[in-house]
Amino acid sequence: MASVPSLSASLQQRVSAALAAAVPSAVGADPLLRRSDRADFQANGVLGLAKRAKANPRELAAQVAAALPADEVVGEVEVSGPGFLNITVPDAAITANLARRLADDRLGVPAKPDPGITVVDYAQPNVAKEMHVGHLRSSVIGDALVRILEFGGEQVVRRHHIGDWGTQFGMLIQYLLEHPHELDHTGGADADSGEASMSRLDRLYKSARALFDADEAFKDRARRKVVDLQAGDPETLATWQRFVDESKIYFYSVYDKLDIEIRDADIVGESGYNDMLVETCHLLEKAGVAVWSNGALCVFFDDIKGKDGEPVPLIVRKTDGGFGYAATDLSAIRNRTQDLHADTLLYVVDVRQSLHFRMVFETARRAGWLTDGVTARHLPFGTVLGKDGKPFKTRAGKSVRLEDLLDEAVARATAVVREKGEKIGLTEQEITDNGRQVGIGAVKYADLSTSLGRDYVFDLDRMVSLNGDTSVYIQYAYARTRSIFRKAAEGQRPVAHPELPLAPAERALGLHLDAFADAVAEVAETYEPHRLASYLFQLASLFTTFYEQCPVLTAEGGEPQVEQRLFLCDLTGRTLRQGLALLGIRTPERL
Ligand code: ARG
Repeated sequence: MASVPSLSASLQQRVSAALAAAVPSAVGADPLLRRSDRADFQANGVLGLAKRAKANPRELAAQVAAALPADEVVGEVEVSGPGFLNITVPDAAITANLARRLADDRLGVPAKPDPGITVVDYAQPNVAKEMHVGHLRSSVIGDALVRILEFGGEQVVRRHHIGDWGTQFGMLIQYLLEHPHELDHTGGADADSGEASMSRLDRLYKSARALFDADEAFKDRARRKVVDLQAGDPETLATWQRFVDESKIYFYSVYDKLDIEIRDADIVGESGYNDMLVETCHLLEKAGVAVWSNGALCVFFDDIKGKDGEPVPLIVRKTDGGFGYAATDLSAIRNRTQDLHADTLLYVVDVRQSLHFRMVFETARRAGWLTDGVTARHLPFGTVLGKDGKPFKTRAGKSVRLEDLLDEAVARATAVVREKGEKIGLTEQEITDNGRQVGIGAVKYADLSTSLGRDYVFDLDRMVSLNGDTSVYIQYAYARTRSIFRKAAEGQRPVAHPELPLAPAERALGLHLDAFADAVAEVAETYEPHRLASYLFQLASLFTTFYEQCPVLTAEGGEPQVEQRLFLCDLTGRTLRQGLALLGIRTPERL
């Protein structure tokens, strides 16, 4: 396990040093080094520096260039334009660096020497309710972040803050007590499936709701059940547990389809903080952070006001004595910082809850539960839209069932896989397996390749298309690298040859391969998985160009060149595979 600094990082250091040598006050200034089409890299940092030093930028650039002697990573340095530095690295440096990456299981990606503890709150559906596309986003994004952070060495605690508590359970429990067989598994082929669980819950929910709305006496009994539940009455809790268990069967079936691992121990829903609620309120009140207003315990903020100009408080305890969503989240913060010792809290939750988190974090800061050493971030995601540009709904205006959506994605992907697969002789089993990996990958990739805050259109045709920014395109590039190895003759092996000059397509591919660790680090810092998605898409495109321009097994330069190109294929394949795995997407060997 050896971290391999990228060429870009090595150059960055050298250019910084040269800047500081030319302008002593520039110590620590960013050279603004970027990949560039004109040379390999371009540094634009001289411009700003010249402005501040009131110097001629071109002259200053020439001075910096002079302080940047050629060495094993600095090839040519040229001043261009108003004072840019164009830097080319030697071919040998590219190949040698890539060889170091290939020799490392982690492809040269460093693991943090001083990992922190990050709690990721994601995949939080609600008990007795159907999951919707919003839950899909939270799950897919959260799962990718967990993988990326863990890969970077961070200690990650996963928390699925499911909605398993609240007044609606009074109604559900009371109804089930009065109609004890409503959740029974009636037998039949699919009676134990997740879908069957959901439809039983859904039916019960609707009947309970109808009765609740129509029958005052039932409403009263339901309200009293809420009190029993909060007081921890054993019979009430046992009935409540049936709802949770039944819902979990359903959640797990969806997550299984989604190929996302959810561990039971990480499901700590709202109910998990029930024992802390009274104390949380008490502490807030004692510290003067929360005050009673119109019978409710509230926290006020100077800068948060409604349309009427009236302050909008965060309500921690309602007038009827009940605790709401906020009290639970505040208790969860106490647990996560004080018991789990987290220094970073991430919440992968719909953008519509932004105000809630703003108020909760601010309250927790005032209460001293979030200290300066702790970062709390809501990572808000946008809405999934239908092709009509409106929030994704069925024609009947109902929210779309997640399972149907996933099934359809898999069906479409299987058709795409079958078409090519029949030509390359895939078995029926391979077509089915690949269809699933491609279809689920497509759904995840469409989500992850969109920057978090943006809405996106759920368009299966586009998602499973072979052309364009899709996971299938990347998966094909991976499969192509594998197919080259299957076709290689005995003795044709991947070997790096730093002495060989690189063709333009090889250089472009090589420099991009070298940037993998930087791309991963960037995502771990910004929590923006779409950066990794776009890195991988670009890698697949560069590989496609390389494949078109540079014959591998029949390379004109003979054996060393065959070996060198196989080496590039090998590293490309491993990087694509590792990169997609970090996004939770699988890579079939044959497509
Ligand atoms: N269950 C909530 C929902 O479906 C999301 C929970 C988000 N997490 C949290 N700690 N509040 O909207």
